[in-house]
Amino acid sequence: MAGRWKNDLNWSDVTPKAAWLNRRQLMAGAGALALGGIAGPALAKLNAAPSQYSTAEKPDSWEVVTTYNNYYEFGTGKEDPARNAHTLTTEGWQVEIDGLVDKPGTYTMDDILKGTSLEERIYRFRCVEAWSMVVPWVGFELSDLLNRVGVQSGAKYVAFETALRPDEMPGVNSRVLDWPYVEGLRLDEAMNPLTILATGVYDEPMPNQNGAPIRLIVPWKYGFKSIKSIVRITLTDTQPATSWNKANASEYGFYSNVNPEVSHPRWSQASERVIGGGLFAKRKPTLMLNGYGPQVADLYSGMDLKKNF
Ligand code: MTE
Repeated sequence: MAGRWKNDLNWSDVTPKAAWLNRRQLMAGAGALALGGIAGPALAKLNAAPSQYSTAEKPDSWEVVTTYNNYYEFGTGKEDPARNAHTLTTEGWQVEIDGLVDKPGTYTMDDILKGTSLEERIYRFRCVEAWSMVVPWVGFELSDLLNRVGVQSGAKYVAFETALRPDEMPGVNSRVLDWPYVEGLRLDEAMNPLTILATGVYDEPMPNQNGAPIRLIVPWKYGFKSIKSIVRITLTDTQPATSWNKANASEYGFYSNVNPEVSHPRWSQASERVIGGGLFAKRKPTLMLNGYGPQVADLYSGMDLKKNF
């Protein structure tokens, strides 16, 4: 994997030209305004630099990233979220952080972002389900937030919950999943620097269909672990339930690490369809842990990943 990681990317490498120019103009005008959480995510990103873990692969277009989505609260079709998610209201968003933490409470997006404004980074990560994309997320390490709220020594897992708003989410009237959407990570997975909370994509605030205003990204796991529109983060000593495991335990385990050697009962996971590859999209071999093995394989040493799928 040597050479896969690049730490010398510029904004212009991951940002469309027009947005790049806008940013420069904005920066020239923004001057003393920056920081302090005044304008939240938008200004915080002015300081963004690429994460050292960013892949050098070409990112998919804004168009692809924002129109081919999974967000079942807005329908099960890949184009449903882009069509329906405009009804989600994200103003005044709050995230409850509770369980085994020193500072439990209700945190506003400003509370969450204020402490991270200098650390916000671009994370150009590969995402894999049965298809793959490369997305330049804007976000910060989950560990940054967890360290600020103080993880207590008994905590072993982190549970996440998505908003459940029947009035705004047409898909939750269908019983396709047991709502609200929930996910979980082991604490050491949550603390790994590849695990981020994302608040934007390219240099825009997170589009609703991608999980506004704040969502998880765990690039070495299948896409469904990356829960969207988070309203609750709970530190716990017991393995949390996860939506897809509840829906079908034989097909979806807790770990859900990308593993070409473990087939989903109904399809092979040995290869993936490259989205944005045109009409006759190519397939390419799926890499163990989505290619992030050098960073995360240690988390699973001694574990049988065929059993712990
Ligand atoms: N989060 C919620 N709340 N609801 C969902 O249906 N779908 C998951 C994940 N997070 C989902 C979710 C799945 S299956 C995938 S592949 C990714 O979101 C897709 O993220 P993207 O649309 O930004 O590519």
